Order: sequence, then structure tokens, then C-alpha cells
Amino acid sequence: MKRDILSFADMTASDLNELFELSKKLKKHRISSALTGKVLALIFEKPSLRTRFTLETGMFELGGHAIYLAPQDIGLGKRESVPDVARNLSRWAAGIMARTFEHTTITELAQYANIPVINGLSDLEHPCQVLADMFTIWEKRGDFSGLKLAWVGDGNNVCNSLILASKTLGFSMSIATPKGYEPRLKIKNKKSKIKIMNDPKDAVKKADIIYTDVWTSMGQETEREKRLERFKGFQINRELLKNAKKDYLIMHCLPAHRGEEITGDVIDGPHSIVFDQSENRLHAQKSLLLKLLI
Ligand code: CP
Ligand code: NVA
Repeated sequence: MKRDILSFADMTASDLNELFELSKKLKKHRISSALTGKVLALIFEKPSLRTRFTLETGMFELGGHAIYLAPQDIGLGKRESVPDVARNLSRWAAGIMARTFEHTTITELAQYANIPVINGLSDLEHPCQVLADMFTIWEKRGDFSGLKLAWVGDGNNVCNSLILASKTLGFSMSIATPKGYEPRLKIKNKKSKIKIMNDPKDAVKKADIIYTDVWTSMGQETEREKRLERFKGFQINRELLKNAKKDYLIMHCLPAHRGEEITGDVIDGPHSIVFDQSENRLHAQKSLLLKLLI
């Protein structure tokens, strides 16, 4: 296992299998003293419910402690340089989780820290989310063979980490975005199992899983009106789902905007596993903390 998890690509297939097995155990036996005396620093440049709560609770349940550092507390890169924040925290903490705008802020933290650094979401990726998502699918299906996941919406940070997961775990992915909103990660291989398109109906055809996320990510608020216009037709609703497999599953990293990227009846309906995903943030991240911080 690498020291830092900055990208989903930092975990190999065998790392992932170990993490899934460990997450399953941790889901059964939540409390231990494995991380007694260890502190995790949580650096946030953006808001959070799930990431903050599950990492703080995860450290608590493992006998350790987490310290939340709000944007105004440390003024990352303003009050103090990123390298100096990394050097200071390395003297006190066992690890750093960072949620940032620029992905390079996280890579810079990792460069100057001598403790593990975990990406808790950047503009480029969201590996902790997708680790929990892959554990959720693994729990439900046992493996990833023959799986088709359809992404409908913005080719954003979550989509990028899912692309990397599909490469490592070998499932197929169809991604439908409006023109100009395709994922930043390029798919080089023409024979790749990853297809990028602009028609949601094509993407969900015979899909086992349909995944979406907000149309306006944190930091893009000024584009909200334009995006609402551009993403019309990319909503997950009952009509669109007629094209999917009968026993399809609905995934969303949350927070959700009901009536925008997904309708309330779908996200709150019987095919939805969104709260399994969010519960599994806790168990999957605890497995990661055990691998990185001991
Ligand atoms: N899915 C997710 O990362 O949620 P938060 O932004 O609430 O942490
Ligand atoms: N794409 C969303 C994910 C939130 C968890 C964002 O970056 O705001």
C-alpha cells in the first residue's frame, strides 16, 4: 500500500481486496483500540457532512482522535504556506486528510509531509467516496465481473475516481455528459471498457448501476444557472430508467438535489443504495486508516 492516497489510482486491485475484507470486519466489530494515541488532522477548504463525520467517528471508534481544521483556522496557503502546514502537522499528527479546491494543494501537502496524506476530495478526484462505493458494490455482488456502471451528469471529481476504479477493477463504464462537461481524465485506449457519450439513454442501456452527482460542484456556484440549463435532459428519472436492466441500482455520493440531477421518487425508491454508500464511508475509511496509520 502506498503511503499517500491522493488518487484512486494509488490503490492496486490487491490493496482494494484487502480493504474490502477489512471493511467487512470493521462493519461487524466497530470499536477497537488499534489507533490509541494517534491523531488525524482534517483540513477542509470546502464544506462536508459525510467526510468529516465519518473520519472523526472512524478515528474515535479506533481509539484515536481527529482534529478538524476549518478554512478560517489555518488559512491554507494564505496565513501559512502549504509546505509549512505539512511540516508542522508532521510533528504532531499520525496522518492528514485534506479536502481542497486545487488537486495540487493535496499533492504539495504530501510532498512536504512525512506522514500519510489522504485526499478527502479535490477538484480532480474523490478517492474516499469511490473506495466506499466499490466496497458497497462488492458487498452486494461479490465481484465486479460483467458489471456495467452508467454515469449520467457532470464528468466531475467523483466521475474521475470512478473511471480509475473501473480500470483497476475491470468493470465497464458508460459516461453521458453534456458536450463540454466530459471528464478531465482522458481515456486513451480505444478498446477500453470506458465509453464517453452525450446521450443518457445510450449510457444507461443494460446498465447494472446508474450513478449521478450534483450538476454544480463545490466551487462552481457562479456557474449554477448556466449548468441548470446545460444539464437539462441529464436527469435520472423513471422514464430514463426504462432503458436500464430490471434490477438496476441507483448510486449518488450525496448531497443530492432532488428535482435536478435525480427525481425524489428514484433516489428514495427501492433501487436506491445511496445510504448504504454513505454508511460505508465510515467502514471503508476505517480500513484505510488502519492500513495507513499503524
Ligand atoms: N459525499 C461526500 O463527500 O459528502 P460530504 O461532502 O458531505 O463530505
Ligand atoms: N462533485 C461534488 C461531490 C460532493 C461530495 C462536489 O465536488 O461538490
